[in-house]
Amino acid sequence: KHITIIGAPMDLGQSRRGVDMGPSAIRYAGVVERLEMLDYEIQDKGDIQIGRPGKDEETSAGSNLKYLQAVSNASQKLAEAVDEVVKKGSFPLVFGGDHSIAIGTLAGISKHYQNLGVIWYDAHGDLNTGETSPSGNIHGMPLAVSLGIGHPDLITIAGYTEKIKPENIVIIGARSLDDGEKILIREKGIKVYTMHEIDRLGMTKVMEDAIAYLKNKTDGVHLSLDLDGLDPSDAPGVGTPVLGGISYRESHLAMEILEESKMITSAEFVEVNPILDEKNKTAEVAVALMGSLFGEKLL
Ligand code: ARG
Ligand code: MN
Ligand code: MN
Ligand code: MN
Repeated sequence: KHITIIGAPMDLGQSRRGVDMGPSAIRYAGVVERLEMLDYEIQDKGDIQIGRPGKDEETSAGSNLKYLQAVSNASQKLAEAVDEVVKKGSFPLVFGGDHSIAIGTLAGISKHYQNLGVIWYDAHGDLNTGETSPSGNIHGMPLAVSLGIGHPDLITIAGYTEKIKPENIVIIGARSLDDGEKILIREKGIKVYTMHEIDRLGMTKVMEDAIAYLKNKTDGVHLSLDLDGLDPSDAPGVGTPVLGGISYRESHLAMEILEESKMITSAEFVEVNPILDEKNKTAEVAVALMGSLFGEKLL
């Protein structure tokens, strides 16, 4: 049992500075010690290098995507780092950074699978393009990009376009979707469990359904967990909080059910922003959830 940690200190995919400190915050919350207790061998490869672009690099000609060049460069680097981890047979565990890093993570992982499944645990769909985005922030676009929909500089990362198929995606926790995202969800038939389904069916049923939905058609499943999927009262250190989210308890349950399924082959935890946090609470929540995901039990 081997896990390789990679930090992706990226904060240019959105407009609240500080989420680049997420990887440090998660490390200081004791992630390595916690996972070593579960008999995993952990290698922490440190952070990928992300340049500090000038203000003049926020916009680029012919596009409303903010920091496009910087995000694209970082995605390429992250894709290469993650690719190496998969090649040597270790479990890639990536710490963000904002959710734009999923572009690189999925680009590095997906080439190793015929049918990679993705569980997108998030308040948002992250299915925007330059045309539909209300903000120009790339962290609202990684799931669309991974479907091959979006700016050419982003969809071609790692040299191939379609990282995942719409029928291999499950979104869990959605409660804030832009109009263009709703259209794409309907068009592509993407499976979404909104807060309504979580309230109505309960987290156990939602996770069992999600697992059954992915089980026979995927040969690996990536968990992309945006801490804003949780309610802001449990995870306050995020840049785009949305009221009425998944609780800490429900999230633990979700991770435990995923662990029992033995289906998850890679994971990332994103959007931990220590500047917006309360005494590192959100990073601690992230580490606690990783504990459950990797098999922690009370007794
Ligand atoms: N839908 C909004 C946008 O496109 C918010 C996206 C938030 N994404 C996230 N990964 N937190 O700007
Ligand atoms: Mn989100
Ligand atoms: Mn997100
Ligand atoms: Mn538990």
